[in-house]
Amino acid sequence: IVPVITVDGPSGAGKGTLCQALAKAFGWHLLDSGAIYRVLALAALHHHVDITSEDALVPLAANLDVRFIPNENGLSVILEGEDVSNEIRTETVGNTASQAATFPRVREALLRRQRAFRTDPGLIADGRDMGTIVFPDAQAKIFLDASAEERARRRMLQLQAKGFNVNFERLLSEIKERDYRDRNRAVAPLVAAKDALILDSTSLSIDEVIEKSLAYAKK
Ligand code: CDP
Repeated sequence: IVPVITVDGPSGAGKGTLCQALAKAFGWHLLDSGAIYRVLALAALHHHVDITSEDALVPLAANLDVRFIPNENGLSVILEGEDVSNEIRTETVGNTASQAATFPRVREALLRRQRAFRTDPGLIADGRDMGTIVFPDAQAKIFLDASAEERARRRMLQLQAKGFNVNFERLLSEIKERDYRDRNRAVAPLVAAKDALILDSTSLSIDEVIEKSLAYAKK
């Protein structure tokens, strides 16, 4: 059986950076499941599909033409042949993704696609329900958390580095809104798996988070 390490947690906790470091350290594949939900949201926006309609979203999710190409700083995301790596990172797309992600049949339609990433020599899976639903038999599960303020601050720096203009208060309220939706949805709510290591990164540097995660995952 192909090994998997899952990393779940709320928006902006630093999962992306941690997962890239773990994938590199182990030489394993990387699944950015959030990017799949984001690509679905972008496809819905592009094709004028009603994002409040589960019936409309399910076929879009089932037939999503998305590819991930590893590059030096993670993955390039290709939707219908077009590189959308930057376009999917906006807050609008993130929010639309979290709305689409509330629908059980949409999640169901994306399950097989996510599990297909589990190939030799191993997988680092980044998301909200990796340890609870997509890979419940994972060898090691990490739940990465941080205060909403700290997560908003990190997200602000990250977006600024990409050239986006952002407002802290607005980011914070968007993060809180997204947290609420992710934690309270009926299906696959954001919650730590019972057997997960819970890491609060509020006052940890990224190197400390990586170090603690590696020590735990190698056991
Ligand atoms: O990094 P950030 O939290 O901004 O977002 P993301 O991980 O790219 O995920 C975007 C949205 O997709 C989240 O707010 C979740 O609602 C949803 N998602 C999910 O439901 N399940 C996953 N495994 C990954 C993301």
